[in-house]
Amino acid sequence: MIAPTVAYINIDNLIHNYRLVEKLTKGASIIPIVKADAYNHGCIEVSRILSSFSSLAYLGVAHTQEGKILRENDIKKPILVLSCILDDDLRIIYEYDFTPVLYSLSLIEKLANFAKWKGKRINTHIKIDTGMNRLGISYKDAQKIYETLKEYRDFLNVEGIMSHFCCSDSDDEFTSLQLKRFNDVVSFLEGNGLYFKYKHIANSAAILKFPQAYLNCTRPGIILYGYVPEKNISNPGFKPVLSIKSHIIHIHDLCPGEGVSYNRTFITKKKRKIGVIATGYADGFRRMLSNNFYVLIKGKKSPIIGNVCMDMVMCDLTHIDAEVGDEATVLGKDGEREIDAWMLASKMNTIPYEILTSIGKRVYRVYVRK
Ligand SMILES: Cc1ncc(COP(=O)(O)O)c(C=O)c1O
Repeated sequence: MIAPTVAYINIDNLIHNYRLVEKLTKGASIIPIVKADAYNHGCIEVSRILSSFSSLAYLGVAHTQEGKILRENDIKKPILVLSCILDDDLRIIYEYDFTPVLYSLSLIEKLANFAKWKGKRINTHIKIDTGMNRLGISYKDAQKIYETLKEYRDFLNVEGIMSHFCCSDSDDEFTSLQLKRFNDVVSFLEGNGLYFKYKHIANSAAILKFPQAYLNCTRPGIILYGYVPEKNISNPGFKPVLSIKSHIIHIHDLCPGEGVSYNRTFITKKKRKIGVIATGYADGFRRMLSNNFYVLIKGKKSPIIGNVCMDMVMCDLTHIDAEVGDEATVLGKDGEREIDAWMLASKMNTIPYEILTSIGKRVYRVYVRK
């Protein structure tokens, strides 16, 4: 056993998912989103694998700090820093050859002055806010954007223009409006002689639902890791990449009337065989699942009983012929049954993004390939 709890990352499924994005988006360039440690699948390994695809335009990270990890591990592909450019990041952008997304007019000015001082034209993308109201220069400011970019064109190479959908998974009408606002800004700027190599707005939901939003580049995240972004969107064949297996570390029998775990939230009504599993909320197995979900053992559902602890969780083995050392599936397949991130997310009123990005650092990663 390598570790009590292991996340297996299926490289074949990752490659399958990337190829499916390529097929759906019909020749558009791709910016796979590898922020948050590639949604916890391991940004170095995921970036290494995806770097071999010629359709990859950039690797998308949120912070320069994430980009540094990639560069320090010999990832040579262009890196797009999607958010968070503070003053200290300017030097890092320059030293590590990152392409920052500039999301305000003042940021354009700041980076241009920095580039002037360094005597090097810096590659950038600009972000238009079309209604998410998070980051970006308002679509209403097309004229100002034009003037600012023109003023600083000697210092910035604006290779891309982008926006972000706020509800491509749930509101088709607003998504169409965002796309129209974006296209209008792009047409205005291009009509005035500013050209962009990459134009991108489509996230996973738009890749699944809005072919008109592919433009010439897309930014898939969650579908690369195998999940549709909204439960009711049909899945054209994306396969979960990550599964989590833990182990039974102890088994004991209880008489009726005994409490299990902190606060005795579960009291046995009859004789029970209890299994102790070596995973807890420090690994991302959320406390909210106490008395409220199950793990899979020997292909059967083993209900969680009592409160989830930091490093352990108890389950009912009364009906399962299991031994210490046997595997417990927390996420993934066991025989005919499967627990996927949508099932966990639905139980906890959240989304697979949060399930995946909450997996603890202590969970050992193993990369599997046929
Ligand atoms: C700017 C940006 N683009 C693309 C994505 C990918 O989104 P998704 O995982 O829904 O495809 C994200 C994720 O949050 C993002 O912030």
